[in-house]
Amino acid sequence: MTAQSGQPQLPWWETGIIYQIYPLTFADGNGDGVGDLRGIIDRLDYLNDGNPNSVSSLGIDAIWLSPIYRSPMVDSTYDVSDYTDIWPTFGTLDEFDELLAAAHQRGIKVILDLVINHSSSEHPWFVESASSRDNPKADWYLWQDPVPGQAYPNNWLSYFGGPGWTYCPDREQFYYHTFHKNQPDLNWQNPDLRAAVYDVIRFWLDRGVDGFRLDASSAYSKDPQFRHNPMKYGATSQNNYKNYHHHYNKNLPANHQIIREIRALLDSYGERALIGETFIDNQMYDSISFYGAKGDELHLPLEFEFPLCAWFPGDLQRAIEKKERLTPTFAQPNYFLDNHDIPRHLSRWVECSLCIDPVTIARAAAALLLTVRGTPILYYGQELGMVDNDDIPQDRLRDQVIVISDTDDTPPSRDGSRTPMQWDASAQAGFSFGKQVEPWLPVHANYKDLNVEAELADPDSILSFYRRLIRLRRNSPALLQGSWRSLLHYPLEYLAYLREHEDETLLVVINFSYEQPFDCDDAIAPDGWEVLLSTDQPEGQTVALPKTLQPFEVSIYQHSGATQ
Ligand code: NOJ
Repeated sequence: MTAQSGQPQLPWWETGIIYQIYPLTFADGNGDGVGDLRGIIDRLDYLNDGNPNSVSSLGIDAIWLSPIYRSPMVDSTYDVSDYTDIWPTFGTLDEFDELLAAAHQRGIKVILDLVINHSSSEHPWFVESASSRDNPKADWYLWQDPVPGQAYPNNWLSYFGGPGWTYCPDREQFYYHTFHKNQPDLNWQNPDLRAAVYDVIRFWLDRGVDGFRLDASSAYSKDPQFRHNPMKYGATSQNNYKNYHHHYNKNLPANHQIIREIRALLDSYGERALIGETFIDNQMYDSISFYGAKGDELHLPLEFEFPLCAWFPGDLQRAIEKKERLTPTFAQPNYFLDNHDIPRHLSRWVECSLCIDPVTIARAAAALLLTVRGTPILYYGQELGMVDNDDIPQDRLRDQVIVISDTDDTPPSRDGSRTPMQWDASAQAGFSFGKQVEPWLPVHANYKDLNVEAELADPDSILSFYRRLIRLRRNSPALLQGSWRSLLHYPLEYLAYLREHEDETLLVVINFSYEQPFDCDDAIAPDGWEVLLSTDQPEGQTVALPKTLQPFEVSIYQHSGATQ
């Protein structure tokens, strides 16, 4: 718990910053070209060395590790063939324990990615289930008989494209897979399967992990009658997943019961965080429902509001306002810009914005993420300004599970945003600690300038800006616990909002455009604002609010008295 003056103590996932590590490409400790646990251990000090005044660490509070379990790697670790062992290329259980201890020693919490909507088709559970109709695990997956006159048992498609059903000759039945055919969905209606998954959860909690990110956590339950999903109004193609309302295979009431059970299990271990991927047909309301009516489901339901926004103040503010309105009072919002499934924000936004310098967008986006009300989740390398590698040769691509459907323009590979972390200017960006081995994915060509070592040495770098923001946030009651209120009704050129707390009021101004007057809809005190952090003004001075915003200026002010 984090103590603030006169305030109730808050759990770490409300005050902390979570950092997503994609283990395949974060750091390669043994020099074989693939990221591993040893590499993460060796790089922990960069994330947080335990010293709040460190001159070389970022200062995050928790790491979320994308899956580290045994996997045939059809979906780059999201197809698990053994939930209680480490993929040998990543290391061993002993190394995991070492990582956990080393992280805890530095005050870093460890969150595992739990992929329990589906397993790999190579998981022994599925191999047994698929072998006959009457084995002990026959009912652990979603099996259906062929329907005369129909190609598949129903019209459910795979999120990755193509049919959601694959035929198994040994059973003369189809099994359902929300994702790839090598990722069969588990049957959560089966009590033995449920108990087995809860044993997996206990296995990791007993080892000391601090929480989980539940993969695809809105898709666990399926309609027991396997009814067809209705198509969306106006949709023409029947072969596009996005053209359906997923009423019968996502966000069913029974799904919430499962999350409640998992949460109760976590709660029995004390302060453990439950995060979940709850993106459902772009509807934030459904995602909000995953807090649970009594706050007994997810602590942090992950929703893609910033990734779905244009780089435009009005759009971003509308997303924040919506979240402010919908988040229950007992609950904590969260935000992220990037993850391993989408193009990085600088790749998404730079080309589409008026602003041609990515550094200005990177700074503005960092300020937004770290000063809005909610838990920020960073994706490795975003703090450097890493962008997608769009030049990966076809024969080097790893992610090839997504099939483009006829009306879908989703890129077939997500590898562009999964390239090796850029540590320094040595061979392969220091990913293999200087060794010249071919990495899992090709390093981005910009690594000589854009890397941790270079940016730590440059006070004007994106990394330095993140570090300043993180330190400011850590010591600010307003940023950690204050309310959020915009000063503009519908901003066109810049964001201006207050974070208000009984001990402190902060004003955040982020200019998305060229020089312009600062002209709020809501009146606030003109004088007495101390500049805490700014891209354009001397810090530490108390000023009257600037009447002019500099091009792409980001400034954070603190006010000691009444602001209105
Ligand atoms: C969501 C994960 O984030 C994504 O990477 C994966 O492909 C699917 N779930 C299937 O596990």
